[in-house]
Order: sequence, then structure tokens, then C-alpha cells
Amino acid sequence: MYLGLDLGTSGIRALLVNESGMPIGEASASSDVSHPHPGWSEQDPAQWIAACEAAITELKANHGSELRAVRAIGLSGHMHGATLLDKDHKVLRPCMLWNDTRSAQEAQQLDSQDRFRTLTGNIVFPGFTAPKVDWVRVHEPDVFSQVAKILLPKDYLRLWLTGDCVSDMSDSAGTAWLDVDKRNWSGALLDACQLTEDQMPSLVEGSESSGGLRAELLSDWGIEGPVIVAGGGGDNAAAACGLGCLQAGDGFVSLGTSGVLLAATDTYAPAPEKAVHSFCHAIPNTWFQMGVTLAATDSLNWLAKICGSTPAELASALPEMPTGPSSATFLPYISGERTPHNDASPSGVFAGLSVGAEQADLTSAVMEGVAFSLKDCLNALRATGTNVTSLITTGGGTRSRFWLNTLANVLDVPLQVPAKGEFGAALGAARLGMAAVSDQALTEIMTKPEIAETIEPNTDLSDAYAARYEQFKSLYPAVKSATA
Ligand code: XUL
Repeated sequence: MYLGLDLGTSGIRALLVNESGMPIGEASASSDVSHPHPGWSEQDPAQWIAACEAAITELKANHGSELRAVRAIGLSGHMHGATLLDKDHKVLRPCMLWNDTRSAQEAQQLDSQDRFRTLTGNIVFPGFTAPKVDWVRVHEPDVFSQVAKILLPKDYLRLWLTGDCVSDMSDSAGTAWLDVDKRNWSGALLDACQLTEDQMPSLVEGSESSGGLRAELLSDWGIEGPVIVAGGGGDNAAAACGLGCLQAGDGFVSLGTSGVLLAATDTYAPAPEKAVHSFCHAIPNTWFQMGVTLAATDSLNWLAKICGSTPAELASALPEMPTGPSSATFLPYISGERTPHNDASPSGVFAGLSVGAEQADLTSAVMEGVAFSLKDCLNALRATGTNVTSLITTGGGTRSRFWLNTLANVLDVPLQVPAKGEFGAALGAARLGMAAVSDQALTEIMTKPEIAETIEPNTDLSDAYAARYEQFKSLYPAVKSATA
């Protein structure tokens, strides 16, 4: 039996998986995010431990005998968060999360030093870990002077599980301190932030062991042991493991809080000038490229809130099949943008509204705007030579048929919709746990989900969507110059 623990921004999910890789039980517990100032987004790491304890208590109550048979645990977590610890591993301040944009200035300053893009293969985005810690160095020098270890969120959970400070390559690639090609901490990048390698966790591959579950937890959870805790991965790498996206050409598109378009690569192929994220995968000798739009379902949530409705109600007012581009165009940069513009300042806009525009027109424009933003991500990946011929779909937004059909039309690639079931980051984490203790090949463990249906783009509408995409692309520079 294997346990996948996926530490998400809004809570933890624990998934029990049997020896044949089938999920057999789950539990979850939520966490809060605090926004003490505009652009700040923080979480108390103690919440992650409390949520994990609550989820395990629930699993123990409902699946005690299966929990007792667990041999390995895999971890997945929201990336980039800076968890700062003193020499006794005491948390020094709330963790600054991936969507905290306060360090835009520090990010720009680090990004202007050539070594960051050269060694990490990425832009130093404000959401990444290094600029956040640099912000602490400038604004909270007392805290900075006490920092003995810097851990990513899932790695703080690991510290509680195993007693060891360890991270994996995929999550560490999002710090801006990793040499992403060599899969090692970079002394030069740490030095640029007045840090040393002693302040970093040791590194393992996601599918390797990072240590064993502590004796106290073995006894609390009712397990004889030993239980191996695998390196695991950042949430997108773990989701790719859950969807079997391991080899060049495998990819997925996710309509979650943020929108992600990810493709696995068997070489390190960075393209920071396109704002593509190039990260190590959670398995050895593999990388992935990813484009991110920051507000996907979050754009629909925003519209639902101001309409006094719910996202599901808004979506249900639309037909299943779009008949062409929406009457208005929406720029979904309400939380800033990563790919392709790397701009932390919000610049969302509706363009082309008429007096006849109704709520449904705004809903379809929002879904289409997110799809266009993901088209930017696809084009950015393709510009690096990455071949994307079809994509598996995932994320809450894919419950809307209209959104899925629009996405297929806009991206102009077939979309593979998995049959109902489990294939997210928690499954990927459990699979990484399995890989750490099993002799099976990774491709046998990390299989693709059963595909229920393939959505083909409607070629009759290709020209109309291509023309609207050109208008979409002209909006961002227009908005920036109008609001400068
Ligand atoms: C990836 C990213 C998000 C977070 C939160 O770069 O910022 O996907 O990992 O889910």
C-alpha cells in the first residue's frame, strides 16, 4: 500500500493506493491563506502539519487496516513558498506563497543578473522563492540573519514526517537557486542572494527515498514500518506523474485556479525569453516545460462573485458547442501574468462590449480569454522546438463542455478527456512513493489514464478563432500603454 500526500494551497489531500496502483481511500483537510496587505499571500506552516494530522486521523478511522500496510509515502506540494527556519528548525515568519507578488522589485533585480537565466533556464518570476527571501533580507533583516534552513512547503511537511531537511529536483527548480541542467544547488546563485548551500536542504530525485517515517508517527498511525518517504515533486511535476506524462511529446493542459500547459522533455531545453518555465521533472534525466496563466478558474470565480452567482451556474447557461468566438474579448490577467508577459501587475480587461452584452456573453468571453492565454503558452513551448500534438485535460474548469470545446478550437490540438477517476497530483505523489520501493519500471507505474473521449478542434471555426486570437494579442500592449 502507498500513500500520496498532496499539500495544496487550500488544503491537503491524502490518497491511499494499493499494490496495483489503484486508489482505495482518501481524506482531506483544509488550510487558509492570509492576505495581510495587497499582493501578499501567506500561510502558517503549522497549518500544514495540523491538516496532515487531521487527514491521517480520518484515513485511520475509515481505512485503518490499509493504512497499516503502507510501505512508502510520496509528497506533492504547491511550489515556490519560502519557509524560513532557524537553527532549531523553528519557523521564523509565515510562509510567503507562490502567488505572493510583493517581491516584484527583487525579482527584477535578480533577473537582471545574467547568471540567473543562464543557470536556472528561467526568468526569476516574483512568485519564485529567491526574490521572496531577498525581500526578507531587505525588509526583515532580523529574520534574515536567523535563517538556518529554507524549505519549500512540502519539504517542511517532510521535515515533520522524517526529521530530515531534503527536497526533490522538480520543486527545487522553482526556487531560482538550482542549476536546472546539472540538477544541483548553484553556489553562484545562492551567493548572489547572500546565502550558502548549508541553508538549503539536501537533494534527491522525486522517485528516490528521502528518509523514513519517524518512529513516533509509525506508532501514532498504527504502522509497523519501516515506511520510506520518497522525494516527491512540485504539484505540476506530481500531476504529470499522475497523468503518465513522462516522455517527450506527453503533455497536459490544466484549468485549475491557475491554468497550466505542460509538456515533458527528455533534454534540458530552456527558453526564458519566452517566459517558459523549464523545470526538472520528478523522475531522473527528465525535464518539463510549462506555460502558466495565473487566473484560469479564478477568472470565472471572479466573474461569478461580481454577478452574485456561482461558477457552475454561469457555466450551465452556455451551450455545449461554441458556434464561433464570443462577442467580447477578455484579457484574463486579473492577478498579473507569467507566460508570455511576466508582469505581476493586474491588467484584466473586457474589450468590445456592446449594449446587448449579457451575462452569458461575459462568461464565454472569460473562458475564451483563458483559452487564448493558454494558446500563448502553447506557442511559447512550440517556439522552443517542443512538439505538442495532443494534450490530456485536467482541472475543475474541464467540467464545462463549452470551455473544453472552446479550448480545443483555440489551441487547435485534440484534447484527451480522461474517464472519471483519480489522476491528479496526489496519485502522482503515491506513484513516486511506489517507485522509491519497487523494481517496476517508471513507465509501468506511471501509466496514462483511460481516455473517455477525444475532443477534436472544429476546423470550420479555425479561421475565426485565429483572427480573434490576433485581436487578443494586441490587447495587452494596448492596455499597458493606456494605463501607464
Ligand atoms: C507553478 C505555480 C503553481 C503552484 C501552485 O509555477 O506557481 O502551479 O505550484 O499550485
